[in-house]
Amino acid sequence: MKAVARVRAERAGEAEAIGALVSAAFLGHPHSAGTEAAIVRALRAAGALSLSLVAECDERLIGHIAFSPITVEGRAGAWFGLGPLAVAPPCQRQGVGAELVRHGLQQLQERGAAGCVVLGDPAYYGRFGFRAVPGLVYPGPPPELFMALAWKGPVPQGVVAYHSGFEARD
Ligand SMILES: CC(C)(COP(=O)(O)OP(=O)(O)OC[C@H]1O[C@@H](n2cnc3c(N)ncnc32)[C@H](O)[C@@H]1OP(=O)(O)O)[C@@H](O)C(=O)NCCC(=O)NCCS
Repeated sequence: MKAVARVRAERAGEAEAIGALVSAAFLGHPHSAGTEAAIVRALRAAGALSLSLVAECDERLIGHIAFSPITVEGRAGAWFGLGPLAVAPPCQRQGVGAELVRHGLQQLQERGAAGCVVLGDPAYYGRFGFRAVPGLVYPGPPPELFMALAWKGPVPQGVVAYHSGFEARD
């Protein structure tokens, strides 16, 4: 079944609800350190939440996606990182995550972004056009889990770093 969700920008006063949603989505997730809500808060506090979209159904928040700036070889450009992406457990597998990704990527592109990276499951993110790119490296995880989608120019080469907000623990 498809959940009918409206995707829109985060509004003032929604930080707490988004935190609760993100925590609930990642609770017990095998690859989660349980820090995703803290990461979203840290990015927001640092002014590094470049794009923060929510999915809303019957005035309830059921999904959230964050985008933040990345660097390649220490240089900032017009590249962004997707994540965390979270859908409320009862609403998962109904197309909400995909709607958030599609809206987010479209808005980034409209704002002039050159591209976006994501660390995640290729079976999920491949459908949006993300592909592992030789030479664009995120140290640590298996290379096939780190993917990029370019809109302008070639994919940069080198080591990617996410914003320091991703080191947030609580
Ligand atoms: C992963 C998540 C964001 C996907 O959102 P969603 O709304 O549940 O997924 P969608 O309905 O958009 O997509 C469903 C499709 O993706 C697949 N899918 C869902 N989660 C997947 C996953 N973790 N890995 C691979 N495929 C996945 C489903 O099989 C389904 O494919 P199908 O349509 O071909 O059957 C959501 O399940 C979630 O919040 N999970 C917990 C947190 C998480 O893992 N976040 C992502 C970290 S990178």
